[in-house]
Amino acid sequence: MHDKSRRAFIGKAFAGVAGVGAVASLVAMKKTWDPLPSAVSAGFTTVDLSSVEAGKLNVVKWRGKPVFILKHTDDIEKNEIRDLVVGSDRYTVVIGLCTHLGCIPSWNPSDKQFKCACHGGAFDASGVEKFGPPPRPLDIPPFDLKGSELVLGEEGEQYKKIAAAAV
Ligand code: FES
Repeated sequence: MHDKSRRAFIGKAFAGVAGVGAVASLVAMKKTWDPLPSAVSAGFTTVDLSSVEAGKLNVVKWRGKPVFILKHTDDIEKNEIRDLVVGSDRYTVVIGLCTHLGCIPSWNPSDKQFKCACHGGAFDASGVEKFGPPPRPLDIPPFDLKGSELVLGEEGEQYKKIAAAAV
């Protein structure tokens, strides 16, 4: 009887520790991703690019997928084909799923790369594969630009130009 209650106590203690770990992971993930305010309706996600801070990875959800939005800092190498240029600002807009087996890479600001922890893949700040097994760059979601609003899910002129050149 005494053994049983001891086992139950240990079980509860483990569950408690696991719960605290899970919450800590979610908090860390939220801090890393720092989702932008965005509006979702009928398969479209709208993001105001004027609220995006340079050098910080922002993630919005579009049709169940994470979309990375990264406003470039001056020390990020330009990619004339893939960057979305809005006035004097440049952005990376990519689907945040590794093109190897679909893990979600994380942004590493110190070496300006997206790193995939699953098999060590790496992409540069514009989403081009640089190392490891990913067979191609991160995919670019269809988007349209309306003033400073990015509408994910619509195929605007800038998207068509980037998609045609990036093939
Ligand atoms: Fe990203 Fe394999 S899933 S490297």
